[in-house]
Amino acid sequence: MPVNTSEAMAGLRAHLLFLPLPVESRGATPLLPASVAIVFTGLLAVFLLARHLQSPWRYLPPGPIGYPIVGNALNLLDKKQFFSMCESYGDIAYVNLAGQPTIVLNAQHAVADLLDRRAGNFSGRPRLIFSHELLAGGMTFTTEGHTPRWRRMRRAVNEAFRPSAAAKYHTIEADKAAQLALALANDPHATVSGGYSHHYASYAASVVLAITYDLPVLNTGKDGIIDTVEHIARDLARAAAPGTHLVDLFPWMLIMPVRFAKWKRDAATWYRCTSEFLGGLVGEVKERMTMPPDAKDQEASGEARPCLAQTLVEEADRFGLSEAEISWAAGVITFAGLPDDTLNSIAGSETQAITLEWFTLAMIGHLDIQQRAQAELDAIVGRERAPRVGDRDQLPFVSVLDTEIYGEDATEFNPSRHLDEKGQLKPAPADTKDEGHISYGAGRRICVGRHVANDALFVAMATILWAFNLRSEGAFDMDGYVDRGVTVSPKPFAGKFEPRFPEALTILNEEVETR
Ligand code: HEM
Repeated sequence: MPVNTSEAMAGLRAHLLFLPLPVESRGATPLLPASVAIVFTGLLAVFLLARHLQSPWRYLPPGPIGYPIVGNALNLLDKKQFFSMCESYGDIAYVNLAGQPTIVLNAQHAVADLLDRRAGNFSGRPRLIFSHELLAGGMTFTTEGHTPRWRRMRRAVNEAFRPSAAAKYHTIEADKAAQLALALANDPHATVSGGYSHHYASYAASVVLAITYDLPVLNTGKDGIIDTVEHIARDLARAAAPGTHLVDLFPWMLIMPVRFAKWKRDAATWYRCTSEFLGGLVGEVKERMTMPPDAKDQEASGEARPCLAQTLVEEADRFGLSEAEISWAAGVITFAGLPDDTLNSIAGSETQAITLEWFTLAMIGHLDIQQRAQAELDAIVGRERAPRVGDRDQLPFVSVLDTEIYGEDATEFNPSRHLDEKGQLKPAPADTKDEGHISYGAGRRICVGRHVANDALFVAMATILWAFNLRSEGAFDMDGYVDRGVTVSPKPFAGKFEPRFPEALTILNEEVETR
């Protein structure tokens, strides 16, 4: 077969470009390809070096070495051990959670430096294609990145929950707190191990539903709305779990035509049904808003009260909210507000319910602190009416109980550390937004419901301490905990709620009836 030598040579030279040439052959090799090779190699080296220098991976903080694929995810099975392991790497540690790069901030100043002072860089959310973009149509602002839609929805909710506006909900919160205390006293199961937790969860959920839609009183048990909202929250959380949907691993699947992608059709149906349900809840609020005052009173048994959905409807133009954004902004607060160990409950009432569980344990384990709080309540509130949110300024000791529960020093329960020698509130440590702790997060994503949560927790704790002596019905574990995914709760214990004085329950009953 005839051989085209020039072609063969060219091919060969191409292969030789990267091989070191023997010294004696240098003279015989044309200069141009060699210099091209050198220039090309040089450029490649510069490119790789530049990429290496610019790579964010170079600046990763130190962290434990993980296993292949799962990284450090298995360490999370024991949270205490996980966090002490991270602490040994300093204030900022890096871990790989099954492929999800994660930074653990171990010091308050690190939280403030990154989340507050560099909020522009650290206010995003990881991309959740199936649960956030498809199921929720990008409407759940808790999982939305730092986008104009997030800003619109967040600003509107923030405005409705700012401290002066949150005062509108004080009566609702005190009302629910009185009902909570009555439920604890009247339910024989409240004293069995963990029997209180259901009541705390109901309290938190009913406060959230009332302040969002002015829904009628929710005692214990469930009704249709709670069930549906729980399903929505659960579906979203399950869909967000890593590895549940292939499209989160292979985003190119988004280009698949709808008719070949049942998962897209299912997600669209879910979004439509959920939007209709949430729109219906706002629709009822709108109807009440347009009723004449008398009819309104009749409809809501004399109880038509301000709520988030009403504020969102009234202020929609100012914040540029669409109908769908109004429905979903309110809806997100209810998903966030229901007790459920899901991703959504980061923001919600599971946190409130669990705080009340830790509070009960702390009071049982520290009777001296319980008695001091009760003495303050007797001195300021007396025994003829139940506590109100407005009493907080006069009750500094009771008001720092929750601060101490979130406290940065878990080794000693000592609420007095937040008070000065006159027993008045000390200024909160820097960078805690006057909260005295950073359990509400920081920066632009700081908990939008924190003022509501503070009020609801304060009045619940004050009412329980005012009405009962908290005792245990057996052994309790001050150091143990139950891992609930995002949060940890105390190991179940049997709490006893003994009325402190004969009239306590009668007064609570009267307050519930007359409010
Ligand atoms: C003890 C009670 C609560 C705690 C400890 C808590 C804590 C938190 C935390 C740590 C975050 C995340 C901050 C971040 O991403 O950096 C958050 C966000 C959020 N919280 Fe709360 N929360 C509580 C109660 C509430 C309540 C009662 C509501 C609603 C009425 C609420 C609504 C939200 C919302 C909507 C977000 C998302 C904000 C955003 O992404 O822009 N939270 N919360």
